[in-house]
Amino acid sequence: MTEAPSAQISVEQLTIEEAQAELERLAVEIAEHDKRYHGEDAPVISDADYDALRRRNDAIEARFPELVRSDSPSRRVGIEPSEGFGKITHKVPMLSLDNAFDDGDVRDFVGRVRRFLKFDPLMGALAVTAEPKIDGLSLSLRYEGGKLVSAATRGDGSVGENVTANARTISDIPQELKGDVPDVVEVRGEVYMAHADFQALNARMEANGGKTFANPRNAAAGSLRQLNPEITASRPLKFFAYAWGELSEMPADTQMGMVHAFESWGFVINERMQRCESVDELIAVYHGIEEERATLGYDIDGVVYKVDRLDLQTRLGFVSRSPRWAIAHKFPAEQAFTILNDIEIQVGRTGALTPVAKLEPVTVGGVVVSNATLHNEDYIKGIGQDGEPIRQGKDLRIGDTVKIQRAGDVIPQIVDVDLDKRPDGAVPFEFPTTCPACGSHAVREENAKGRVDAVRRCTGALICPAQATEKLKHFVSRNAFDIEGFGDKQVDAFYAADLVKTPADIFTLEARDRQTLTKLRNREGWGAVSARNLFEAINDRRSIDLNRFIFALGIRHVGEGNAKLLARAYGSWGAFYDAMIGAGDHGSPEWAELNDIDGIGSIVAEAVTEFFAEDHNREQLAALLAEVTPKDAEKIDAGDSPVAGKTVVFTGSLERMTRDEAKAMAERFGAKVAGSVSKKTDLVVAGPGAGSKLKKAEELNVEVISEDGWFELVGA
Ligand code: IVH
Repeated sequence: MTEAPSAQISVEQLTIEEAQAELERLAVEIAEHDKRYHGEDAPVISDADYDALRRRNDAIEARFPELVRSDSPSRRVGIEPSEGFGKITHKVPMLSLDNAFDDGDVRDFVGRVRRFLKFDPLMGALAVTAEPKIDGLSLSLRYEGGKLVSAATRGDGSVGENVTANARTISDIPQELKGDVPDVVEVRGEVYMAHADFQALNARMEANGGKTFANPRNAAAGSLRQLNPEITASRPLKFFAYAWGELSEMPADTQMGMVHAFESWGFVINERMQRCESVDELIAVYHGIEEERATLGYDIDGVVYKVDRLDLQTRLGFVSRSPRWAIAHKFPAEQAFTILNDIEIQVGRTGALTPVAKLEPVTVGGVVVSNATLHNEDYIKGIGQDGEPIRQGKDLRIGDTVKIQRAGDVIPQIVDVDLDKRPDGAVPFEFPTTCPACGSHAVREENAKGRVDAVRRCTGALICPAQATEKLKHFVSRNAFDIEGFGDKQVDAFYAADLVKTPADIFTLEARDRQTLTKLRNREGWGAVSARNLFEAINDRRSIDLNRFIFALGIRHVGEGNAKLLARAYGSWGAFYDAMIGAGDHGSPEWAELNDIDGIGSIVAEAVTEFFAEDHNREQLAALLAEVTPKDAEKIDAGDSPVAGKTVVFTGSLERMTRDEAKAMAERFGAKVAGSVSKKTDLVVAGPGAGSKLKKAEELNVEVISEDGWFELVGA
């Protein structure tokens, strides 16, 4: 469960400092959601809430363009590829689509296209295709000499994961193209799972005691992104071809013609694609597809419109992440009424009290819903993040009849209350002011600016069993210590039996087991083999990558990405630890250095130093480090490059590489990349549109070079 963000003020009222802090928070939060959605196929907020976060980010950036971060969500598409797969750089980037939510947006889209092209009605009809938007994940297939040579996921849009071996197991994907095909062909489309196959797969997984997938999209993504292609082969995946990347020769000059060429080469295309000549026709096709939605047998979440003529597509081009010549007309969310039976309070790792609605089970869009997130106590009262009323300000009471909405996401929302059906005597919900798990006070903290946090937190950090078990679950989780056979269930059981209360206890379990008569192997659910396997799995993790170790600590705002940044910046546990202790003094060089790490801002820096300032955290760490050794992070071989040891800042738009590539390249050559220009900066690489950082560099007399100059300098 994510924690709801703090109360917000309107973008117009933000000071520049607040805007900067908020952009940092949004970058962290959106990256986390992106990771959950794309990386782990397990989203925790609704699409609508996610869109609201992105909209706020965009609005703040529009007001303060100078504050746009190098890791801003507006510069990214999807997430970085996972490390388990090799990487493939897309020859032509894989982009996203803008959304239209109603007929008016579709009219605006066609109007915009016509104006851009100066295509007035006298020049005749503007042909636009309409086709279902498949709710799966996109894949780019490369053929050379007609043979499939590689398959890549979208990844961050520029670099995807190499899933070639997995793609070869999908029967809709030809290994060899039919007919006379260009030498280089990149066909793109959507990998998805049909409803019937999804249900059968989940039934099979359940029967084998495994976890099930929340929806077909997650099942498709989880199946394609398997490191073992045999597992993918056993999953019933399908593929529709609808777009392309590099092509050595174009087989057609329209969208429709291209897709038919793909069909002739052996691909499956969506037979519902149509060519329209007016907005009314597009909207009619949209409603037709919407009516068929329930009986299609696979999930779609809208209709995609594309300008048919490719010469016009070329003229229209792209705006940031999306083509100007296409738009996705999304279906409205699906809704249903049900009864709010109870409100349960869950306590998270950081003590956040999160209310969850327990609902009378109801089917919304084919999925049975019995829980809905309620975010925080204001949300229950009918107050949104920005203080604005939600559900027209109506509060939620146990026994209420509520309207549930599911918009292609996993966690549904309560969007309205039917006050006519409110039972007599229903009282406003009283949010607990003590922690349901440990009885400690639960408070809403005030930040430095006197604004009250939307989240109420348990103050019983050390004594709270809910916080302790959630922390342990995080510690052993897949991207942290990843101890096989040690999951949520084992954490709860070991904690209840007083066997494991802190992370260090995990590693002393075996030694203690040897000295006790109540051996693990004799406990219910365990035997000699499973106990031995568990001890082995634990011992396997006595040496661990530094970034995983840092991530496992569960420091607020330090997700996997920030843990990697910290590990790379400091190289070893000793260096990191000493620096974090030093950085507790905000006037120290360590504090300045921490804040200078590209991608680490003041919120993260504050959270990390606060963590190390706590005596009990340092005590727990000392106990843990008596058992576990973090490995040094990969040292960058600087060689004798001219930028070795220098601090470099990239600013403006770069044309030959992405920000991430620039950073990785600088680090390869032994340089340190910083996010802002200061006296410590040795070199600024400025692309077109560079603003305040360039000015600052000039003021401070810091050397400024162009992107080409950079390539020349490092000799790449
Ligand atoms: S065209 C340059 N057509 O939607 C844009 N995309 O929101 C090329 N999608 O990443 C995309 N069905 O994964 C296109 N018929 C369709 C689609 C479709 C699903 C997905 C695709 C894309 C995302 C954008």
